[in-house]
Amino acid sequence: MVRWRILWGTAMAVLTAAALGASASPAAAAPGGSGDGVVPSTNVVGGTRAAQGEFPFMVRLSMGCGGALYSSTIVLTAAHCVGRTGTNTSITATLGVVDLNSSSRITRKSNYVYRAPGYNGAGKDWALIRLASPVTGLATLPIATSTAYDSGTFTIAGWGAAREGGSQQRYLLKAQVPFVSDATCNSAAMYNGEVIATDEICAGYAAGGVDTCQGDSGGPMFRTDSAGAWVQVGIVSWGDGCARRNRPGVYTQVSYFSSAIRSAAASLGG
Ligand code: ARG
Repeated sequence: MVRWRILWGTAMAVLTAAALGASASPAAAAPGGSGDGVVPSTNVVGGTRAAQGEFPFMVRLSMGCGGALYSSTIVLTAAHCVGRTGTNTSITATLGVVDLNSSSRITRKSNYVYRAPGYNGAGKDWALIRLASPVTGLATLPIATSTAYDSGTFTIAGWGAAREGGSQQRYLLKAQVPFVSDATCNSAAMYNGEVIATDEICAGYAAGGVDTCQGDSGGPMFRTDSAGAWVQVGIVSWGDGCARRNRPGVYTQVSYFSSAIRSAAASLGG
């Protein structure tokens, strides 16, 4: 039920992005959210503008999703943002800028998509997109390979809606959200058992107000490691509306899939 609503929102985002094609102005995209709830936030939801160069690994994808630069040729995103595994030259990745309209932006076409094996809309929400040529000069985002960083405070970022039902953003927004345990996230007050504890990790405030939203999907949730470097712990996956009370964001738990991601990336040559 909740998932249905989210998939509907995603379908709208994909349709809108498809209508835009590989437009250089994805900021104009306006995917519909579920649109049936309260909008409890200020102006990602509750975020502020990221500085140019602050998150060099952030990627905007032409179907209306986010991603993270995993290597010079591979973008890690959500399975629900892509189609089946195979040759795919239809996706444009925009990198290196917070302003999607900046003349300094770097763009690359895809040449292959790898979607998590067994993906069927519940869990396993990760995918790799191979770029037609390498991107140089941008830091990549290492993935968490253990559960060591699956708690604490996370940073989220994206060009998605700044409020539920809102339009896609031209400038990258960022925010911070606290970890929410599987037990709390699956409690009756929250998702009542809908979260797949092994595959997914929740983050957000019980009061709402700060969250990822439609169009942020596929983008990274990350934090600092013991050396102060960024490490990716999540992939924006789903939520009931955006920033609602007792409805944290649900993210793919990267640590759980890290071996599969690494070997898939290697099989793609990067
Ligand atoms: N599925 C959405 C997308 O395609 C992302 C939803 C995230 N929602 C949330 N409340 N954190 O962009």
